Amino acid sequence: MEFRRGILAGLIEGDGHWSHDEQRETYVSAAPDLTMFVRRELEAMDRCPIVRRFENDHAGGWKVRFDPIQHAAPLTVLDVEDIGECDLVDISIEDRAELFLLANGAVTHNCSIGMGYHYRARYECILFFEKGKRKLADLGIADILQAKRINGGYPAEKPPSISETLIRQSTDPGAIVIDPFMGSGSVGVAAIQSERSFWGNDLCVEAVDITRGRLTEAGAREVGDTPKSVPSPQLGLL
Ligand SMILES: C[S@@+](CC[C@H](N)C(=O)[O-])C[C@H]1O[C@@H](n2cnc3c(N)ncnc32)[C@H](O)[C@@H]1O
Repeated sequence: MEFRRGILAGLIEGDGHWSHDEQRETYVSAAPDLTMFVRRELEAMDRCPIVRRFENDHAGGWKVRFDPIQHAAPLTVLDVEDIGECDLVDISIEDRAELFLLANGAVTHNCSIGMGYHYRARYECILFFEKGKRKLADLGIADILQAKRINGGYPAEKPPSISETLIRQSTDPGAIVIDPFMGSGSVGVAAIQSERSFWGNDLCVEAVDITRGRLTEAGAREVGDTPKSVPSPQLGLL
């Protein structure tokens, strides 16, 4: 709950980002559940959010815009289907030895300078977890991985070269790499380029379409459809 309140206060961006101008505040996200949360909370505060679906060449998502001053106007919802409540799947972990534990703090990667209200962001943290004691494939790799930031792509799109290093370090060829929030499928591309299999999942149909195209382009032998066992509204690729 604190995480969600943090998003609303603009302290945390979650899976999206906030922008402000003199007239409006806008939250943009590709995640329907966060969009719904922000919309509902703003409605409860009489902040009259306008929710719009957007699509561009790379991505789709929702913009939640509201006037920070005007409180009384009626609610307008444009071009948005009712996203509804999402079911949460509870993954219980009974055996502690099976837990993934934070292995060595953060791995960072340099990239071109980014946005920021204070010092401009030049790195992102990658938390590295391990299950039991496992040796990385190459112990000569340092904890700063360099790649150029992707501008104008899918929201928070990551460079495949970063994922490729992580995949090669932690798996053998032929392993299955899973990304439950695949977005534009950059992890999938990295998996295919590293001769691993990829299982991906997302709530957004655009994400599935983009990923399907990218996996095929990267040379995936076969890209399947969402299996029947995947619960709605989740969409998968195997
Ligand atoms: C930041 S994007 C991932 C970007 C990806 N790493 C890339 O390089 O393109 C996060 C994705 O998670 C998806 N997502 C958010 N909440 C989800 C949920 N509960 N279940 C499945 N997908 C979700 C969003 O639709 C979005 O596409």
